[in-house]
Amino acid sequence: MSEGFRALMVSKEPEFRAEMHDMTLNDLPAGDVTIRVHYSSINFKDGLALIPHGKVIFRYPMVPGVDLAGVVRHSSDKRFHEGDQVLVTSYGLGVQHFGGFSEYARVPADWVIPKPPGLSLREAMIIGTAGLTAGISITQLERNGLRPDQGPVLVTGASGGVGSFAVDILARLGYHVVASTGKASAHAYLQRLGADVILSREDVSMASAKALEAERWAGAVDPVGGETLAYVLKTTQYGGSVAVCGLTGGSTLSTTVFPFILRGVNLLGIDSVSYPYLARRHLWERLGSDLKPRHLEDILAEEISLEEIPAVGEKILRGEVLGRVIVRV
Ligand SMILES: NC(=O)c1ccc[n+]([C@@H]2O[C@H](COP(=O)([O-])OP(=O)(O)OC[C@H]3O[C@@H](n4cnc5c(N)ncnc54)[C@H](OP(=O)(O)O)[C@@H]3O)[C@@H](O)[C@H]2O)c1
Repeated sequence: MSEGFRALMVSKEPEFRAEMHDMTLNDLPAGDVTIRVHYSSINFKDGLALIPHGKVIFRYPMVPGVDLAGVVRHSSDKRFHEGDQVLVTSYGLGVQHFGGFSEYARVPADWVIPKPPGLSLREAMIIGTAGLTAGISITQLERNGLRPDQGPVLVTGASGGVGSFAVDILARLGYHVVASTGKASAHAYLQRLGADVILSREDVSMASAKALEAERWAGAVDPVGGETLAYVLKTTQYGGSVAVCGLTGGSTLSTTVFPFILRGVNLLGIDSVSYPYLARRHLWERLGSDLKPRHLEDILAEEISLEEIPAVGEKILRGEVLGRVIVRV
């Protein structure tokens, strides 16, 4: 197979560039399953992949894109057959191994998830890594005892990809959702997704000398980190849990042990990259059934082409994207 196709590639020689390239199937990395990509999506990590010092790409040149959904063109692994609709998110996709910003991809069969029956390929990419991460966060909170009758649940960075899905899914599950956002223009959007209360970023990142503040939430989904996470830990109620997955507000956490040793607060680390295959597959099925976000079309901000990706990458790093952007390949 040496069919020609197009991909967005980032390279560092002679200087950093992100531009469209003509490729053939022979240029794809080794792998068991060759996929005709129909949709991809843009996550914060893809924004970092598209800048010179984003520190997410393992080697150059690279085709970024941590998400893809498409149809199997060829498989040497007996679990998959030509014509199967599949999706792949994270693992090394788009950072170590050519990713989804391409008309074709070839990946290890162990990364490939059969498309859940309750989702189209397009819907799966609206959800993408952002929705999967919100799903992991919420299921981990529930595994640690969170229930709707325990009190409000805070979602920080609520208008972003992870935040939007966390608001939608928590509301669907019957939680009282408090959403914090830096965008005054996002209030009506967050209410449509199911937020009961909307706070500003400043409301959830107040610095104080106190080790503990008044208890405000039974749990939290935090894609922001930094000072916001420090404040959220101080204000989580007795026995509550905070699921942290991101760093848009900073990667440094300054805290004391008091939320943990006086209130029994749990800090739950959330990783979607190496999330185990069987749990991932099960969660994707739930994202197409009992956890299916109810406002996918509201959360979809834009559907763009491969050529338009670099401009959206800049917007996502500036925190300007409301919801999710998918790529129609
Ligand atoms: N651990 C994992 O496996 C995993 C998976 C997916 C994503 N992530 C991480 O989770 C984070 C969110 O990803 P995403 O794809 O949802 O990104 P996104 O769509 O860009 O959303 C991030 C949101 O964070 C808020 N924000 C931006 N800059 C901020 C700042 N300086 N201070 C406070 N809040 C700020 C904004 O929301 P508001 O304007 O509403 O405040 C923004 O929309 C990223 O750090 C990403 O790397 C981690």
